[in-house]
Amino acid sequence: PSITFTDSSGESRTVDAENGSTVMETALRNAIPEIEAECGGACSCATCHVYVDDAWSATVGGPSPMEEDMLDFAFEVRPTSRLSCQIKVSDTLDGLVVHTPSRQG
Ligand code: FES
Repeated sequence: PSITFTDSSGESRTVDAENGSTVMETALRNAIPEIEAECGGACSCATCHVYVDDAWSATVGGPSPMEEDMLDFAFEVRPTSRLSCQIKVSDTLDGLVVHTPSRQG
């Protein structure tokens, strides 16, 4: 599946993602800017924060209660905010668009 990351300046990068990996891992593997992922995907740092594109938010769904608690530490949280290490890539998400915030934490 392909995932498009749009950064805070509006620049988009579309990359191939592996099923079963996470959106965060896909970002790191492709050197996507504005994602730090300090905790390596353990849902305990909130520096992999992204905004799911409005067109995709229903498909991706909302955060788990644990993720929601962690999102309290993210910068400029919006209704479409998710931690990208908690979004698993699958064919359903082919074409997914996420936006990265101007800063993490
Ligand atoms: Fe730390 Fe996602 S990588 S919460």
